Amino acid sequence: MKENNLWKVIYEDYIPDHEPLREALFTLGNGYVATRAAAEECAAGDIHYLGTYMAGGYNRARSEVSGRIVENEDLVNWPNWLPLSFRHDDGNWFKIDDVELLFYRQELDMYGGIMMRSMRFREKDGKESTLVARRFVNMKNRHLAGIEWTLTPENWSGKIQIRSALDGTVINSGVLRYRDLSSIHLQPLEVGQFEDDTIYLRVQANQSKTRMVQAARTRIYKNGKAVSVESDFFKKVGYVANIFTLECEEKRPLTIEKIVSVFSSRDRAITEPVLEARDALSEAGRFSELLKAHSQSWAELWYRCDIDIKDGDQTQMILRLHIFHILQTASINTIGLDVGVPARGWHGEAYRGHIFWDELFVFPFLNFQLPELARSLLMYRYHRLPAARRAAKAAGYKGAMFPWQSGSNGREESQVVHLNPQSGNWDPDNTYLQRHVGVAIAYNIYQYYEATRDIEFLMAYGAEMMFEIARFWSSIAVFNDKRGRFEIHGVVGPDEFHTEYPDSEKSGLNNNAYTNVMAVWVLRTALDFVDLLSDTRKRELFAELKIDDDEIERWQQISRKMYVPFMENGIISQFEGYDNLKELDFEHYKKKYGDIQRLDRILKAEGDSPNRYKVSKQADVLMLFYLLSADEMEALFRRMGYHFDRSTIPETVKYYIDRSSHGSTLSRLVFSWVFSRTDREESYQVFKESLKSDFEDIQGGTTAEGIHLGAMAGTVDMIQRCYTGLEIRGGILWLNPRLPKEIKGFNMRIRYRGHWIWLHFTQHRVEVSFESGRSPQIQIGFIDKVYELGEGDCKEFLL
Ligand code: BGC
Repeated sequence: MKENNLWKVIYEDYIPDHEPLREALFTLGNGYVATRAAAEECAAGDIHYLGTYMAGGYNRARSEVSGRIVENEDLVNWPNWLPLSFRHDDGNWFKIDDVELLFYRQELDMYGGIMMRSMRFREKDGKESTLVARRFVNMKNRHLAGIEWTLTPENWSGKIQIRSALDGTVINSGVLRYRDLSSIHLQPLEVGQFEDDTIYLRVQANQSKTRMVQAARTRIYKNGKAVSVESDFFKKVGYVANIFTLECEEKRPLTIEKIVSVFSSRDRAITEPVLEARDALSEAGRFSELLKAHSQSWAELWYRCDIDIKDGDQTQMILRLHIFHILQTASINTIGLDVGVPARGWHGEAYRGHIFWDELFVFPFLNFQLPELARSLLMYRYHRLPAARRAAKAAGYKGAMFPWQSGSNGREESQVVHLNPQSGNWDPDNTYLQRHVGVAIAYNIYQYYEATRDIEFLMAYGAEMMFEIARFWSSIAVFNDKRGRFEIHGVVGPDEFHTEYPDSEKSGLNNNAYTNVMAVWVLRTALDFVDLLSDTRKRELFAELKIDDDEIERWQQISRKMYVPFMENGIISQFEGYDNLKELDFEHYKKKYGDIQRLDRILKAEGDSPNRYKVSKQADVLMLFYLLSADEMEALFRRMGYHFDRSTIPETVKYYIDRSSHGSTLSRLVFSWVFSRTDREESYQVFKESLKSDFEDIQGGTTAEGIHLGAMAGTVDMIQRCYTGLEIRGGILWLNPRLPKEIKGFNMRIRYRGHWIWLHFTQHRVEVSFESGRSPQIQIGFIDKVYELGEGDCKEFLL
């Protein structure tokens, strides 16, 4: 891998074993549809995995596992629109794996949103050719995508055939662990031809009945002019192809353009997908014209969202790769699609495209860059509020209990059993007890409101969600007479290694500190929200939700009397009883297994359990310091009647990092944030490790199954908010930069309450430029003083 341009990721070799990772890292998407960077000419197999995913394109299927029926909702692998290949006369179809490569280069141009492969190859009979393949998934018109192949016969002339197909016979087989589960989601409906050079395919997901139509127009050009060629049509169930026959001349390049349109029954403003797919293609211009509009959209996105940083090339390039993938998962095209933020992007089948608490790490970026998108993503949760209410009721609670894993309709999508690849056993999975997902939703609502002051959202939707989540915490909290405090039982915290007490028959733990403290945060914020409502809206909402004075009083009570467990050494305990667990001999396991990130699987395969040890998959207690400032922590603990001493933070961080295996990519990120307050050097080291999570696939194979969006967005947010000390407090935007010494400087632009602000940071100086705004003046707090800036003003602060 070599990068000669900070906007590009470049590989100069073809390594079949690295293809799965590169396919995920070079995935192209536009927030509506995403396609892995698999070679067009190849089929799914050991090397390649062809995956096309639609935002929110789910389907359920039942499977038999160890004698029981389980139902999973999967992110469907929709038809493969890529197939393109050629052959000489009746020879074999060209495949990269069958030829001798004389030159190879694969490049992702993030600025323009284009993937390119160029290669020179020799076939078995000595024929040499050069192929340059370019591809994009249109950011401007979400329904279009294109491939352009330029093929140059280097030492031969003769007849060739070109095959351009749409393949609906694909299945979901992208994740090895899921391969014993049902993988057939597509039911072929129809294939056909609109014109000699235009084919189409219609499929339906067999349970959700979501339909997708793809149409492909393939044209061949020589010297920039379309050539008329003999065209054939081939079809079988779920598969359709155009086959063109033409003569090639040595050294005379020919260009093949495949323009594809994609529509689905989930689309708005359409009559019927087949018709729309046909019309879209008949209006679509050539590859280069579409590419121009597409790249223009990317340029606009980069103008808003880029972070231009100087600390050595890799950080810049990887940060851009992270921003690129956030925007390909959720972009302007996603607004109004009724989809959430999938933990693994729409880039692979891991975690089935489900929506977890990971959005907590993605929203801060979106709030300050594309607030209209953040609002739409919050609406995904609002539309599933009825389902969350039903879930709370079924479990004997009140309010809204959002699912740990959410998909189409907001029911709980977590698996009940999970395959342990270490042992081959199907282990029970109780991670669904992570009720703290509701905290993440509440926190996102609050953060979105703070960044935008979108009072209409708050009144119409945000407050209702906040009250219902608060009500859930109020109903799950039980009063312990002996302690004179409220407690929360039977839950799981962010650390998924602990789901129950050792040798206990019951799942869940008591008084997970993160959950308890954040439940108090939700209750207190809900009380604040009451004051933000207009009298009319308050009357309406209180009547609708039947909130009375007694309930408000209970919220007050719980928020002042919640129990928080501490260990004997004074450190906040991850949960009640954590102190009684055994210490784990990390060195022993490291020696025995090498990679011990997934100690849970290792221990279970040994007939043991992580539940018995002080070992965490990821930051848990420390999530408190990630979400709350030391001031906020002190205020919350004071409210609960505890003394929180901020000088214990470094000790707490050390205690938990020594016991963490970082089995989740979210873990290092949180440590890096927390360290930024106590040890900037360490923070930056951990940040750099976190930055490589996907790029270097540090979990050894998981990135190929889908990127880790939380870690990607979280690293961007480390620059955006953490090292800048950017926070909104008391209605003022504060900056308090703490740049690690390796960062020489960076620029970014943020959208804050309708204003555009450009920021420039160096080690010794900060420039704040108030470019334009909703009001002529803004207040900026710098370290401990507030300054007023008028529209057009640029203010310099020295450090
Ligand atoms: C992590 C969770 C995360 C999930 C989806 C798990 O490995 O432990 O915190 O929500 O992955 O990314």
